[in-house]
Amino acid sequence: MFYPNLSFPEIAGRPFFYTNFVQTLDGKVGVKKPNYWPIGSSVDHQVLLELRSFADCLIHGKNLARQFGEQTKKSLKEHHPNLPYLIANRDLKKLVSDIYQKGYRKVLVEGGPTLLASFLKEDLLDEIFLTISPKIFGSQKDMTLTLAEGYLFPPSKIKKFKLISVKKLGDEVFLRYRKSTLLV
Ligand SMILES: NC(=O)c1ccc[n+]([C@@H]2O[C@H](COP(=O)([O-])OP(=O)(O)OC[C@H]3O[C@@H](n4cnc5c(N)ncnc54)[C@H](OP(=O)(O)O)[C@@H]3O)[C@@H](O)[C@H]2O)c1
Repeated sequence: MFYPNLSFPEIAGRPFFYTNFVQTLDGKVGVKKPNYWPIGSSVDHQVLLELRSFADCLIHGKNLARQFGEQTKKSLKEHHPNLPYLIANRDLKKLVSDIYQKGYRKVLVEGGPTLLASFLKEDLLDEIFLTISPKIFGSQKDMTLTLAEGYLFPPSKIKKFKLISVKKLGDEVFLRYRKSTLLV
């Protein structure tokens, strides 16, 4: 296992939210054109599967689900048949409260970047697993995506994380960051 004995702290009154993204050297997590996926290697895919195994619930954004929903359902059936799979809606407060009521304590939000920005904005994102893939996509206006899209945090609200683990395998680096306020 890549992350044996992975554990997360408990957060009072809501689940612990973590995400898993892969990005290029130039910080791109997606391109709105075919043939740019997958970004990561087969090892990165194994890490994705492994990180799902620690979750009580998996959340996707609408666009991610539109692109990969069927593939995700197929993968869940094969690897994590009991993992609940939800598509986020605009009312994050209600979503968070509903999933907490259901007893879910560790929730994996796999993106996309627009949904992730919403979680960040509400201060709900506690950990980021980030794979750096040794590629450069370049950029084109409105066609390339970075980790958090659609919202620019004002300087006083810039989100800050601390690096808690670095692993290297082949030409990829696997980073784990936790929200700095959880590490005092
Ligand atoms: N590299 C990686 O690791 C990685 C991981 C995940 C995704 N991706 C890429 O990301 C892309 C999809 O991401 P995306 O940013 O376009 O879309 P997304 O985050 O999957 O979905 C965003 C859409 O969901 C709806 N939505 C509903 N509730 C929301 C909420 N609370 N906050 C924000 N949006 C909400 C909105 O559409 P309406 O306003 O129409 O309702 C919004 O435009 C794909 O290209 C995928 O390949 C890459």
